[in-house]
Amino acid sequence: MEKNILIGVTGGIAAYKVVEVASRLKKSGANVKIMMTRNATEFVSPRTFQEITGNAVSVEMFGDAANFHVAHVALANFADLILIAPATANFLAKMAHGIADDLLTTTILAFDGKILVAPAMNTKMYENPATQANLSVLKARGVKILEPNTGNLACGTSGKGRLPEPEEICAEIEKILAEEQILAGKKIIVTAGGTLEAIDPVRYIGNRSSGRMGCEIAKFAVESGADVVLISGKAEIEPPNGLKSFFKVESALEMREKVLNEFETADCVIMSAAVADYRVKSPAAQKIKKSAENLTLELVKNPDILRELGNLKKNQVLVGFAAETQNILDYARKKLVEKNLDFIVANDVTAEGAGFGVSTNIASIIWRDGEIETFPLMSKAELAEKIVLRVEKLLNDKKFFPVGFNQ
Ligand code: PMT
Repeated sequence: MEKNILIGVTGGIAAYKVVEVASRLKKSGANVKIMMTRNATEFVSPRTFQEITGNAVSVEMFGDAANFHVAHVALANFADLILIAPATANFLAKMAHGIADDLLTTTILAFDGKILVAPAMNTKMYENPATQANLSVLKARGVKILEPNTGNLACGTSGKGRLPEPEEICAEIEKILAEEQILAGKKIIVTAGGTLEAIDPVRYIGNRSSGRMGCEIAKFAVESGADVVLISGKAEIEPPNGLKSFFKVESALEMREKVLNEFETADCVIMSAAVADYRVKSPAAQKIKKSAENLTLELVKNPDILRELGNLKKNQVLVGFAAETQNILDYARKKLVEKNLDFIVANDVTAEGAGFGVSTNIASIIWRDGEIETFPLMSKAELAEKIVLRVEKLLNDKKFFPVGFNQ
């Protein structure tokens, strides 16, 4: 799960269980930040959360004046989801009434995304009409409530009010994020597979692309709610369900035509297809007979589709791939600039487990500002998720957490 999750910890004994929640989320690949109320720090030290998440823990609204950032807004922008656990009766009351008297309550007011609240308290406090009314207000506003479990409580009684187990909380987060249609209303063109350049009616020049990388990208984009147009050359992989349109093409020229037809109304193009750089100048109309000892084919350059898109681009996000066998990052960076891309996915197609045909890849993403993200060997499905989530951030103009921000 490659998501930014902000956990708000409030002052209840069950705060200790949230350490395990943070740890599980972090292990699953999420970027986890913790915000604690002052009371919460009486139960668990911020240092524990800091060690578990690798991120500084935020408690105070006003820190060092020289280092002041608008922390509540920055942290609200950072989060794909906010979890409040444990949520005390007092905190629920403040949330329900829009009170903003510390960093956590203020951040929640500045946040318009998904919120999951996990209340934990004494049974009578939980069942009190005031608490129930506050929960109803929050539910009506779209806040998800994870009902507490029944069992022994820290106050020595037994009943409803126990914080659900960490695995239950994490499963609920996964469920909520999976429901997210983060790319709803966005049109994304994905190219996949390899183009074929005819020599004669039976022979062609082709490449080893299986179409898997492109199909995984299309699949994740569909699952994220996008209107996906998949334009595929020769591929061994079935296109995913749920596409808005699917075009099967052969040559680079055919792929170019389909991409250009769709481009104007698109929000993004991800070119993972292996497009032939050259085609046969004059393919034979009939099968070439085996007579001469040597056969020379004259090749002419194909148009570079992505470069054309880079010139035409208005607001579209453009993502390219670079299939390289040497000087990977240097060549990829050159393509990123020359084709006017937002980012490029560089893969060493000679590395074991990477590139053509296999179900895994090893890639780096290079950004326009020179930043490079290097990923280990992973499935093409996982890499597809990383690519599409980065596209979503660009399309929805989400701000990245400021580098060096240390609240
Ligand atoms: O299909 P799989 O078996 O899963 O393999 C995946 C893959 C190896 C094909 C994929 O990961 C990959 O690297 N795709 C890009 C292949 C390629 O053509 O790379 P390139 O470095 O030659 O081209 C750079 C970029 O320009 C690519 O985005 C390409 O789609 C595009 N291009 C290239 C030539 C051309 N005439 N027009 C283009 O638009």
